[in-house]
Amino acid sequence: MCGIVGYTGKESALSPVLEGLRRLEYRGYDSAGIALVVKKGDPLWLEKRAGKLGNLESILDSVPESHSGIGHTRWATHGGPTDVNAHPHVDNEGKLALIHNGIIENYVELKAMLTARGHIFKSETDTESVVHLLSDARKAHNGDLAAAMREVCGELRGSFTLLAVHSDEPGRIVGARRNSPLVVGVGDGENFLASDVSAFIAHTKRALELGQDEVVDITADSIVITDLAGTVLPHREYEISWDASAAERGGYAHFMLKEIYEQPKSIADTLIGRTAGLDASITAGIDLQGIEKVVIIGCGTAYNAGLVGKYAIEKWANISVDVELASEYRYREPSVDNKTLLIPISQSGETMDTLMAMRYAREKGARVFSVCNTNGSTIPRESDAVLYTHAGPEIAVASTKAFTAQLVAMYLLALHLGKVRGFISADLENEIERELTDLPGKVEQVLETVEPLRALTRQFKDATSVLFLGRHVGFPTALEGALKLKELAYMHAEGFAGGELKHGPIALIDQGTPVVAIMPTENSLLAEKMASNIQEVKARGAIIIAIADAPLASADHLIRIPKTHEFLQPVLAVVPLQVISYEMAIARGNDVDQPRNLAKSVTVE
Ligand code: F6R
Repeated sequence: MCGIVGYTGKESALSPVLEGLRRLEYRGYDSAGIALVVKKGDPLWLEKRAGKLGNLESILDSVPESHSGIGHTRWATHGGPTDVNAHPHVDNEGKLALIHNGIIENYVELKAMLTARGHIFKSETDTESVVHLLSDARKAHNGDLAAAMREVCGELRGSFTLLAVHSDEPGRIVGARRNSPLVVGVGDGENFLASDVSAFIAHTKRALELGQDEVVDITADSIVITDLAGTVLPHREYEISWDASAAERGGYAHFMLKEIYEQPKSIADTLIGRTAGLDASITAGIDLQGIEKVVIIGCGTAYNAGLVGKYAIEKWANISVDVELASEYRYREPSVDNKTLLIPISQSGETMDTLMAMRYAREKGARVFSVCNTNGSTIPRESDAVLYTHAGPEIAVASTKAFTAQLVAMYLLALHLGKVRGFISADLENEIERELTDLPGKVEQVLETVEPLRALTRQFKDATSVLFLGRHVGFPTALEGALKLKELAYMHAEGFAGGELKHGPIALIDQGTPVVAIMPTENSLLAEKMASNIQEVKARGAIIIAIADAPLASADHLIRIPKTHEFLQPVLAVVPLQVISYEMAIARGNDVDQPRNLAKSVTVE
């Protein structure tokens, strides 16, 4: 939530800052702004506009030459999306500019104190308190912006990534982070700060991690990282494993479509070197034999992946699994101990709800084995063990390839637990491993047959409600299908377990209600039960769109998918659901990659 970028170096700063904002716009798109240091001691050059980045770009003519600056793309929390509330915010002299991602919880008391000291506030944001506080602290520290930042961070409550520039020190940018992401891009005669590496990937593949409560002070040729006490810390450098083209649309109309079509590759990449089992060293230090309970946490799509993981872990490893919405888990203070294995699932590795729930469980003694797509992010950094998904950068707000990669990771993890605990049979293990290896090819087959979904989806574009039904692992698949449709098409959509229908939801069925049914594998016990559920809704006027690996006479529209092991079916069944949501968003004239009110990487609770 909120994209942050800073550049200092040999190039004219506007270009890398704007380029970074374009790449980070998926993190928030209700306003954007840039501050540049033009001439030592002069007020900063500042432009900011409500609306998408394009609004800001359209007024950027005759921008003065500058070699350092910061930019922000916002997802509003405090104060509506207006020009005035857009970041950067500046001090009353117009020489200090600050951008922020997160929430400052004590901003009301800070504002009262600063107003009493004579500072004039212009916006309704929590962020503006910090710029005035920083301005005073900088004066108290004889113009040392980094020392001022360290002091200010000690006075703030909440979560933040902050970047600041002051016109008395051209070329210097100071940043800080607590519970919100910030990475350093190490260039040659230039350096970058950003919410994530996609902002500077076209310039450098060298990145530095920043830990909790660390302050970073960069110029074109220096990077100093300290803790809040001012102790200089060593650099933790890593190389970014993908290149700029991965973060571009590459000829597709939307990032979402590109990411849907990347799934054969992202699944194959997640499986590479792992189909014969995970290396034992991955969980070194966690006594998996001694684990008595598994708790999976996540939000949204990641939660749905966790639900599928529960079916696999319980069946293949014979351990009881709870799956919890991270935002609910932490605040009900569940019982956790050192016999609990906590599995947080997160694409970004920065989701605040998941992070906070994970910290809670860790403090109580739980061992943490996270599933994450983002190298160097906070959740894997604070875990005992990590299984990385290799989906590459996911830019569209609606998650697609990260979801299928998370499913694959959960299967690998379930197999690993089953083996380590000596529960899974060699036959089943071999069968699953074979089926996993075949998955990328089967997803490819599904993608080759989705074209008719375009016309089919248009038939239902004015439906008031779409229901998704599934049983067993088809139930979380139904939840995921409904979530995708809600966020992209802005339609009422709900996923139900087929068996629950008669306990209430069937009352929603009316003449012509579209029902998307995810059919269990042919000949399974549940296939018959689901077929009965379909008859029940059909008898009440529903139109059935079935996703199945076998013919189904009762379906009004049948979407065939290849056969796979029944637990692995969500990987194939979700692909048409993603395509339906994509096509529905287009049919209804919605912005596919940037759906309203949403932002990727939810870094506030
Ligand atoms: C839905 C979607 C969200 C995320 C959720 C968790 O398409 O993208 O529901 O899945 O916000 O995000 P991560 O996985 O980054 O923790």
